[in-house]
Amino acid sequence: MEKEPAAGQVSMEDIAALAKRRGFIFQSSEIYGGIGGFYDYGPLGAILKRNVKDAWWRDMVELRDDVVPFDSSIVMHPKTWEASGHVEAFNDRLVDCKVCKHRFRADHLKSREQCPDCGSKNSFTEERAFNLMLRTFVGPMEDSAAMAYLRPETAQGMFVNFKNIYQSARKRPPFGVAQIGKAFRNEITPGNFTYRLREFEQAELEYFVPDDGQDLKRFEEWVQLRKSWYSKYGVKPERLRFAELTADERPHYAKAGIDVEYLFPWGWGELESIAHRGTYDLDAHMRLSGKDLRFYDEASKTHYTPLLIESSAGMDRTTLVMLVDAYERETASDPAGKQTERIVLHFHPQIAPVQAAVFSLARNKPELVELARSIEEGLRPKFRTQYDEGNIGQLYRRQDEIGTPLCLTVDYDSLTGHDVTVRERDSMRQERVAIGAVESYLGERLAGP
Ligand code: GAP
Repeated sequence: MEKEPAAGQVSMEDIAALAKRRGFIFQSSEIYGGIGGFYDYGPLGAILKRNVKDAWWRDMVELRDDVVPFDSSIVMHPKTWEASGHVEAFNDRLVDCKVCKHRFRADHLKSREQCPDCGSKNSFTEERAFNLMLRTFVGPMEDSAAMAYLRPETAQGMFVNFKNIYQSARKRPPFGVAQIGKAFRNEITPGNFTYRLREFEQAELEYFVPDDGQDLKRFEEWVQLRKSWYSKYGVKPERLRFAELTADERPHYAKAGIDVEYLFPWGWGELESIAHRGTYDLDAHMRLSGKDLRFYDEASKTHYTPLLIESSAGMDRTTLVMLVDAYERETASDPAGKQTERIVLHFHPQIAPVQAAVFSLARNKPELVELARSIEEGLRPKFRTQYDEGNIGQLYRRQDEIGTPLCLTVDYDSLTGHDVTVRERDSMRQERVAIGAVESYLGERLAGP
């Protein structure tokens, strides 16, 4: 968080303050001082994150006939992580300062001469490997035989069950398996708010393809598809880049790799990785388990190991991107024509936690309250709505800050004219809409692309 935000961008401090004030994100177990790398989603944040996950699920799974859903357990047989290479190689290199005892990732240190925390000179220990998997014990004995890991990625659950999945779903490559779920990594230096967590959610899509010479073309199609997904939900294209990994940067078995990066306030950070992993994962599990996970092609009566194209996106990072990307501090005119500053989140209507707020202009006028409440109740089954009442300036200010696209106000004229004022978040334009037409009006403006 120490770096200045990029030009025109909000600082992470402002995002964290808004997130707390409005109930998007809180520190986990805050009353005990918090715990590094763990966060909770508040009443609005829980909906925001769910909307992000639902958008991914709808587009990547439900609207496709070549992707099947999956939901694997967090704790798996420990051999899974031997086969995947995580036990051997899922390490960060770390050093300790012998004076202040603080621990650092070796690749994050600018210099080895002076500790950035206490200023001591030449105080670091030798580098050593630190495995990032979190451990637990299964059953009543806490010995090495009972030791298991909390999964550091959701992907392996889909690989070890590959045969069960394709046989039961009657799928043949090319087809994909998708899941959204928790993953855990004992990061040495969690930080940048919810960017680097120790408990987080991934949305992973494992797309298995035949080795028919079309694999690189299919990889490129997935990259394009993910590009259009971010664009569909309004992420600013100038803050998004698709960085191609060189042969030196990607694992030896990977034929191609792309990091999807977003320009966060502190600089570019990874949001998703898209990788062509060849047959590496299925081969590794076949070797260690001794089980045949190859695909049996009925037509040619042959067995083969499909190639894998993986898209792995962090849902907490995508949620954070939605907040950062939508944030704007702008000068505006209040209803009396006075210039005021407002903070507004320009969420896409499908991502916005509240899509339409319905207000009663006065708290103490039962006819207005009753009418506003009944309009809100009528809209609730179709849209994410919220009822509120009181000072209209304050009500707009609050809804702008939580990114509500439309606000409907019931006033005295509504009682005789049977209409309401609808105010649009981004343009702040207002118009009268007949109560009977409100539902279709909202439907047109809030429907996704
Ligand atoms: N199965 C491939 C895989 O796990 P990864 O690049 O290690 O690939 C994929 O992780 C995505 O998961 C990242 O792009 C990021 O969005 C998210 N992610 C990884 N580590 C994270 C962490 N410590 N906190 C939050 N999100 C994380």
